[in-house]
Amino acid sequence: MILQDVVWGIAVTGIALVALIFVYIISQAGKPADEAATRKSAQTANTLRVWLFWILMAGFLGGSWATLHQFPVARQQGPLDAAQVVEVTGHMWYWDMQPASVKAGSAVAFRVTSADVNHGFALYSPDGHIVTQTQAMPGYTNTLLYTFATPGTYTVRCLEYCGIGHAPMRGTLEVTSPTGGQ
Ligand code: CUA
Repeated sequence: MILQDVVWGIAVTGIALVALIFVYIISQAGKPADEAATRKSAQTANTLRVWLFWILMAGFLGGSWATLHQFPVARQQGPLDAAQVVEVTGHMWYWDMQPASVKAGSAVAFRVTSADVNHGFALYSPDGHIVTQTQAMPGYTNTLLYTFATPGTYTVRCLEYCGIGHAPMRGTLEVTSPTGGQ
């Protein structure tokens, strides 16, 4: 089942639930009020709301932690602790990378800037999937940390429209095995 179908299913279920609640409220309208029962159901609703709040809170905090705690956001100031550093400069319309070869298995810090306009520095694996990216901005250096798991020839593409030569603005990064060679 594709994700769109799942989302659609959840939406339809939610709409049906809301409709059922409305039908229930309409069916209860006009009945004489039982004060004790009303008070009790108000208390129950309040308890459920408090529980729902804390369950949602735990879900959001847990979800945020699980998805973000390993997020590779590099420090922008201070010393670099990566053993390999690649200086990247975007130009209209080519990439200058020093060096253009790194080893797999240990962290690489890409220090990315631009000599002219904004470019988007994006690394693609040999099978064509994007692995990481950051902005290349004139006057700024963005540090991007990445550890390559697989050796191969990676392609650099530009993800920010930068003029007539934007589409063919490509580069190549060789990732060799940790023991040397391919
Ligand atoms: Cu450089 Cu688009």
